[in-house]
Amino acid sequence: MKKVLVINGPNLNLLGIREKNIYGEETLEDIARKMNAEAEKLNVDLSFVQSNHEGEIIDKIHESRGKIDVIIINPGAYTHYSIAIRDAIKAVEIPTIELHLSNIHAREEFRSKSVIAPVCVGQISGFGSAGYILALHAALMI
Ligand code: DQA
Repeated sequence: MKKVLVINGPNLNLLGIREKNIYGEETLEDIARKMNAEAEKLNVDLSFVQSNHEGEIIDKIHESRGKIDVIIINPGAYTHYSIAIRDAIKAVEIPTIELHLSNIHAREEFRSKSVIAPVCVGQISGFGSAGYILALHAALMI
């Protein structure tokens, strides 16, 4: 059974309240529920976490060493400047999928730059909450 960890970064706990025109109506709990249902169908051992703190996200990545097969990460705004999260992903050598609800390439210019992308297998961006399901399928294809 493949072990997949989903890490959600800052402000994603406010999904369903925050900028609904961009991020949609669903809460993070709704997304977690859908993902868990899909994981059960696909026979995946899924963990789902959220943190607003860079250090906590880095700790989660470190703790995954030797325990998790694939990481799916929506780093939120850390996407655009956290070299520390990038280095953590690189260090643990766990195949990682970068995920965004919105299409970061179609928004403000500062969002189109991801410092995380070069250490990831690939990026899923712009499919809203469906991106989480797509990422889970992608995790099984790595
Ligand atoms: C986001 C995109 C980021 O630019 C933003 O800071 C977020 C959410 C997304 O899922 O579309 O917090 O990662």
